[in-house]
Amino acid sequence: MSALPIAILASGEGTNLQALLDGPAAKGMVRIVGVASDKVDAPALTRAEAAGVPTGRFPASDYADRAARDLALADWLEGQGAELIVSAGYMQLLDPGFITRFDQRIINIHPSLLPSFPGMDAVGQALAAGASETGVTVHFVDEGVDTGEVIAVSTVPIPAGVSRGELEEAIHAAEHRLLPEVVTAIARGEIGIGEGSRR
Ligand code: GAR
Repeated sequence: MSALPIAILASGEGTNLQALLDGPAAKGMVRIVGVASDKVDAPALTRAEAAGVPTGRFPASDYADRAARDLALADWLEGQGAELIVSAGYMQLLDPGFITRFDQRIINIHPSLLPSFPGMDAVGQALAAGASETGVTVHFVDEGVDTGEVIAVSTVPIPAGVSRGELEEAIHAAEHRLLPEVVTAIARGEIGIGEGSRR
């Protein structure tokens, strides 16, 4: 079986990118053909460069609008040969044209049990709500904010008195297990992507 070519979108630290580099990529299940960011100095880009993965920088200030930026981003990802796009801490909404072009080929990891706590600061939202549990969701990306079809979830308890830092750590640990699992299942064909895969 040949490795599935995937690309990662990341705005921040890139610990989920690292989990993919160390897991499915190291095992030859996937080939990471590019890492793109809206933040020119995202630590995720440094991780990619350290692993010899090509990087693309797409700051909003270089483009007239989101549609123009995401058109350039889509052209670059297609040029890299990506068949699956993984949004892993990418903090921008994707343009509808981008989503149509990669229909059912974009997945996102979100730090809550969707549909609870979508959007920004999902961990803070869960703490503020006094929830007894939260978690992690991997889902297909559609035009809404964290509304696409759910692929897999992992639950994380919120013990009484837990600090924000402790909860973030537990969520990251869950993410670093769940995202590589889902990407591996896609690479094996156990989860369908692309045209006709809508369940
Ligand atoms: C992750 O916790 C991811 O779930 C979250 O950003 C973090 C990125 O961490 N994404 C969102 O909140 C998207 N709405 P990382 O850069 O270390 O992978």
